[in-house]
Amino acid sequence: MSHPILNDQLQSLDDQGLATTLACLADTCKTISQQLKRGELAGILGAAGNENVQGEEQKKLDVIANDLIKSALGACEPVRGIASEEEDDVVGLRESAGLLVTFDPLDGSSNIDINSMVGTIFSILPGQSTGPVTEAEFLQPGRNQVAAGYVLYGPSTMLALTTGNGVDMYTLDPVSGDFLLTREANIPEATKEFAINMSNQRFWAPAVQTYIAELLQGAEGPRGKNYNMRWVAAMVADVHRVLCRGGVFMYPWDQRDPNKPGKLRLMYEANPMGFLVEQAGGQCCTPEGPILDLQPEKIHQRVPVILGAAEEVSRCVGMHS
Ligand code: F6P
Repeated sequence: MSHPILNDQLQSLDDQGLATTLACLADTCKTISQQLKRGELAGILGAAGNENVQGEEQKKLDVIANDLIKSALGACEPVRGIASEEEDDVVGLRESAGLLVTFDPLDGSSNIDINSMVGTIFSILPGQSTGPVTEAEFLQPGRNQVAAGYVLYGPSTMLALTTGNGVDMYTLDPVSGDFLLTREANIPEATKEFAINMSNQRFWAPAVQTYIAELLQGAEGPRGKNYNMRWVAAMVADVHRVLCRGGVFMYPWDQRDPNKPGKLRLMYEANPMGFLVEQAGGQCCTPEGPILDLQPEKIHQRVPVILGAAEEVSRCVGMHS
């Protein structure tokens, strides 16, 4: 069976600036994948010795992945500016270019040191001006995204990509070095699988407590079926499972820290994943409605996230009203 090559497929996009940017991101993720494969041998595991703007400890690989993507996009003509989880502020690149890229260079970084799955998430937005690049320009609803995707560094390295016409999944062929199209994502409306960090249960809002309690009652409860639970603790890996075989994934609001309305970041986690999930037939919401309709207020904003199978997302969101 022959598998189409990512770079060939990108050539058929109407926007060749977008194609160049996506090829650049895909190539850089191949380099990150190679670094990850060498793991402990490369001396790149462990803490970098500093914190990011969100007060989280940076791992050496967070910094390495960020520097690789920043420098690759710095040399990528169509990119006007970037925003990264690991950068305090947005970075202007060239005023004449038309695309803005936001990214989480290494999602799930607590998994790095245990040789478990991590990923890179990216979102591409249209530039809004021809003057200096500002944070305000990035603050566009997720509906404006022209492309979004992630690369999952697992047993094989996989790229999931949407440009608004479904979700294509590519596997990195270690022999040719190409990303080859291997499947399309599809999220069935119903599921028997959920993903949530149960250790936070006592901090959740009452609606989430009730929703999860119903799932845990299984066939004897109001849902009338048994559910299974999975939690990889890397959003890329958990959402990848949902895109491949369905399910519901949640990182809901909790009352641990009033300054953090959720753990996940809107601009480079929830929005790109929301675009992918909607394109695969699922839903991605906060208790107030679709994530993609949110007007961002700042680049590192956090949001509660409920995504995946439409039946489950609607039920959970509905319980909040
Ligand atoms: O970006 C934050 C993140 O690493 C996600 O990838 C993941 O879903 C979540 O945090 C895991 O959080 P916790 O450690 O609370 O399970």
